[in-house]
Amino acid sequence: MIDLRSDTVTAPSRAMRTAMAEAAVGDDVFGEDPTVLELQAETARLVGKAAGLYVPSGTMSNQLAIKSHTDPADEMICEAGAHIMNYESGGPAFHSQVQLHPLQGNLGVFTAEQVEEAIRPRNVHQPPTRLIAIENTHNRAGGTIFPLEEIHRIHDVAERHGVQLHLDGARLLNAVVATGIPAHEWAEPFDSVSICLSKGLGAPVGSVLCGSETFIERAHRYRKLFGGGMRQAGIIAAGGLYALRHHVDDLRWDHERARRLAQTLNRLPGIEVNADDVHTNIVIFDVDDQKGSGAEIEERLKRAGLLCLAFARHKIRLVTHRDLTDTDIDQAIQIFQKVLA
Ligand SMILES: Cc1ncc(COP(=O)(O)O)c(C=O)c1O
Repeated sequence: MIDLRSDTVTAPSRAMRTAMAEAAVGDDVFGEDPTVLELQAETARLVGKAAGLYVPSGTMSNQLAIKSHTDPADEMICEAGAHIMNYESGGPAFHSQVQLHPLQGNLGVFTAEQVEEAIRPRNVHQPPTRLIAIENTHNRAGGTIFPLEEIHRIHDVAERHGVQLHLDGARLLNAVVATGIPAHEWAEPFDSVSICLSKGLGAPVGSVLCGSETFIERAHRYRKLFGGGMRQAGIIAAGGLYALRHHVDDLRWDHERARRLAQTLNRLPGIEVNADDVHTNIVIFDVDDQKGSGAEIEERLKRAGLLCLAFARHKIRLVTHRDLTDTDIDQAIQIFQKVLA
């Protein structure tokens, strides 16, 4: 079965498993796990921040950031398709009691002008705007890259209004590899940055939240409160360290394969995808109504040996990842040609 549902399906390689088995460990709730400390420091260095915090998931990382930046009844601006808003189970309302103010982006990208308009005046009737979240790359928009210039313009607006900036960089390293812009440059305008190790990087578990010492101290307290304190977590952190050290450059193969899939799909009748919008490892294509619903097509592809995700009534998502081979991509193309043509 060719699994194009998500880059989270990747399994640790033999070499990664060896690194995990041999990891030095300690009780991380006592702050004594050397591998966790190493991963936190290495990730913080990578994104140019003072400190990092290892957490079980990207969701917890984002939610800790929101909790640490805001007070109840504050407002947070994000893009309408943001993971934080659509796929984190209502976390901002539950954990932080903040209200979300979604902006309609173009391929996940909103502008400084939209932010300027959305930031509320200080007025007793209105919730204070405290935080803006940017997702880069943007999952639901198809792995698209948020232009750095626009991030700087948004940062200027945020700074002028005293609003904090959080980066949901679950797939930031995909943007790094696709553009050649280093992670610390992408992260520089942000007060906090979340990086996932368990997506295209291929580690089995975990994300690292990075920011200032004071911010990470707050997030650390909330991690314990949320039940995210882990003991000999070096076993899993070692997988993350291995991924950061050995797997980042490989992301370019995922990007190349995603583009190849998009170009092929675009030639099929009744399928629409703009290959130029495929910036990294996610392909979202539209299917003509006559071909059936997204869910029906997902089922037909599954019967032919290919797993994908119906994203909306007529949208299908494919994600390339390091556990696929060129032969898998060739076979996927044959399946698409057979099932969708
Ligand atoms: C952009 C983005 N942020 C956050 C997450 C959450 O990560 P996790 O599944 O580890 O909670 C995901 C998961 O796919 C994601 O795509």
